[in-house]
Amino acid sequence: MARRPLVAGNWKMNGLSASIAELDKIIVGAGALAQRSANVDVMVCPPATLIANFAVAARGSNVAIGGQDCHALSAGAFTGDIAAEMLRDAGAQAVIVGHSERRQYHGETDAAVRAKAQAAHRAGLLAIVCVGETRAERDGGRAREVVGAQLDGSLPENAAATLVAYEPIWAIGTGLTPHPSDVADMHGFIRTRLGARFGEAGETVRILYGGSVKASNAKELMATANVDGALVGGASLVAGEFLAIAGVYR
Ligand code: PGA
Repeated sequence: MARRPLVAGNWKMNGLSASIAELDKIIVGAGALAQRSANVDVMVCPPATLIANFAVAARGSNVAIGGQDCHALSAGAFTGDIAAEMLRDAGAQAVIVGHSERRQYHGETDAAVRAKAQAAHRAGLLAIVCVGETRAERDGGRAREVVGAQLDGSLPENAAATLVAYEPIWAIGTGLTPHPSDVADMHGFIRTRLGARFGEAGETVRILYGGSVKASNAKELMATANVDGALVGGASLVAGEFLAIAGVYR
């Protein structure tokens, strides 16, 4: 089963209107990659304040724009929250749900993440569902158990328009990455669970790796079995570095 890889940049709480200059560089670079028939989709997930402007700038390009979170409901008295429909209306094509920083700092449970993923689908967005274990859980030999439970609780009903991002929490923003064999092991485990959950459609779900992906380690990580791209944090803020990661699929 050929799955077209995706390299998505998660800008987190970084970026002001002037950052559109960085997006413009990404658009030019992604266009050049496409011209060389690179087999990769490129996405930027800026803070919500920038989505509309970025979507206009990216229109007609090879760069998709995504959000970083959404509410489960489409409208209502939820001060400060943003509905998936609003992201879509602003020009987003996807949304990240259940990032470990949302789970940790906003107490998002698996059930809440699942409801957000369902909301993404309701609004016509791709849902990028994040899972990953802590260092203590890995050291305790519980990584599969934890990730398995997160998948069971967080995945939406349909495999279509669903992506999974495996992001070991201890690798996020630390410069540490798991050994490629551990990545292969976990992605294989996730693939099996997707098959158990979705049947044959589980084969079509892209599984991204995230956590300290950089230009210098992307080639090895992206060449790992069942790694269908990357969710990139810090390294996605600089166009050259981000494009070098997408460029491994050239
Ligand atoms: P990082 O973040 O690439 O800065 O480690 C990845 C993420 O949190 O999605």
